[in-house]
Amino acid sequence: MPDGRGAGRDRRGAERSWGPWTVVKLDALSGYLPAFTQASQRAKRTMFIDVLAGSTENTARDTGEAVIGSAERALQVSPPFSRVVLCERDERKVAALKEHLAQHHPDRDVKVLHGDCNEKVPEYLAALAAEEPHPVWRWAVTFALVDQYSADVRWNTLEALANFRIGDRKTELWIYFGDSFFPRGLSTGPAYEARMDDLFGGDPDWHVLHRGWRAGEVPGSEFSKELVNLMRWKLQHDLGYATTIPLKMVRPSGHGLYHMIFATDHDVGERIMRHVLQGAEKELEGMVARQKMRTVLERQDRHAGIEGLSGLNDWAIDTAEPRGPGQLLLLDPPRPPWQPAAASGD
Ligand SMILES: C[S@@+](CC[C@H](N)C(=O)[O-])C[C@H]1O[C@@H](n2cnc3c(N)ncnc32)[C@H](O)[C@@H]1O
Repeated sequence: MPDGRGAGRDRRGAERSWGPWTVVKLDALSGYLPAFTQASQRAKRTMFIDVLAGSTENTARDTGEAVIGSAERALQVSPPFSRVVLCERDERKVAALKEHLAQHHPDRDVKVLHGDCNEKVPEYLAALAAEEPHPVWRWAVTFALVDQYSADVRWNTLEALANFRIGDRKTELWIYFGDSFFPRGLSTGPAYEARMDDLFGGDPDWHVLHRGWRAGEVPGSEFSKELVNLMRWKLQHDLGYATTIPLKMVRPSGHGLYHMIFATDHDVGERIMRHVLQGAEKELEGMVARQKMRTVLERQDRHAGIEGLSGLNDWAIDTAEPRGPGQLLLLDPPRPPWQPAAASGD
């Protein structure tokens, strides 16, 4: 199914370019990871797991400039991660990753897992847990990025990541959650429904919500919000994360694309990520404000029958600021999952 994202490959296998929101997301990752490794200095080991690693470099759609991908960003972090684990299914991307690693990071501890992350990542974690005489990596302070195109990751994989660590912190998770694409995917039939089922681990609340949406009891606009809420609820209540913070990623038009959901059970991680995400929210809202200003000025110029004073227009666009408080970061805790009116007593 089309993923609706700014990255990936087109039908001929060529790499697609990335929308500006992807750059904001990756910059937020680059903002957080050094704080994560710095805050983990007392731990003997730190580990970054890129569950769907992609390519090391891509192209920005708006500027044509190269954009460094998550794997390379994790490798550039200072203080460095003790170990970086990269999982990728696409053979060509794996070959490119290996070549890149040999050329640029020959001395780093990097494991490349080739295959479906839902098999390879749990297998890898189980192998680390079985290491003799001590499973030392289970004490590593660990961050996992789950940057999927659509519903690629199964709940079991998230569970394996969350439960991997011994010690006072769970593996921190940052998950791409394509809530605005899911309704379209679900309309394509049972194969996609099965993927969604796997993403939610066959959760009964997911089935209730899905049925409610199909029956028209959950309006389309609410369905996406309820999906985000359910995923957060499960992360907190089933996997035991103390906090989840979703950041809504938007197009320059302001239309919602997907959420990045951060899950942690560590107050320092939460504080730092909250700060980083507030910066990302500002970036995204600035992008929307600039686009709005561009549209207004172009309309005015058209009405006036002039080409506009390009210098002045550029200045007004570049300095356009969002109005009002941020709308994209949700700091309230998740609510209990949606239930039909009779069941919830409404
Ligand atoms: C959105 S991209 C990741 C982008 C990456 N985080 C970056 O910043 O460059 C998702 C990647 O996951 C890979 N992929 C999709 N399904 C997968 C699966 N089940 N297991 C492993 N990799 C998968 C795709 O080939 C693609 O390269």
